[in-house]
Amino acid sequence: MKSLVVYDSFFGNTQKIAEIIAEEIGAESKKVQDVVKEDLQGLDLLVVGSPTRAFRPSPDITSFLYNLAESSLRGVKVSAFDTRIEVKDIKSPVARAFLGLMIKFFGYADKPIIKTLIKKGGEVLGETTGFCVLDSKGPLREAEAERAKEFAQSLRC
Ligand SMILES: Cc1cc2nc3c(=O)[nH]c(=O)nc-3n(C[C@H](O)[C@H](O)[C@H](O)COP(=O)(O)O)c2cc1C
Repeated sequence: MKSLVVYDSFFGNTQKIAEIIAEEIGAESKKVQDVVKEDLQGLDLLVVGSPTRAFRPSPDITSFLYNLAESSLRGVKVSAFDTRIEVKDIKSPVARAFLGLMIKFFGYADKPIIKTLIKKGGEVLGETTGFCVLDSKGPLREAEAERAKEFAQSLRC
């Protein structure tokens, strides 16, 4: 079984989660900028993770997904995760009020990722999720490493 965890990461938090998931399911993890065509050939499971940036996946994850050929994920199980800040952890009250409203409308990166993976033919495995950082550059909330292992367990086919 060939499994791959593709991720982007600016400050290392999404990378940490991606590596935990990959180790747990016996997959390779690769930064999106390093993924080559051969990595995607003969795949059984593709997991894509991104930091949430302006309510969306990072630009490089977005273009990776966009550039996947139509139907190229037919027969491939797919899942997605993001890293994010929960509204209650945003320190400034003004930013908390504004971002709280925006997040209600626009959400986090996991949903657009999985939507595109499905559009390219992927078959969803389990629920997508987000792992929380405590400030824009991290660190991850303490319990998230354990949650990443649990999430990985939900991906076992
Ligand atoms: C420019 C910028 C925009 C961000 N936008 C959001 C956002 O819309 N929603 C959110 O929950 N977190 C947002 N964050 C926090 C990121 O999700 C956080 O930096 C990320 O989880 C860190 O992951 P990384 O270390 O892998 O880059 C933003 C952070 C930056 C620096």
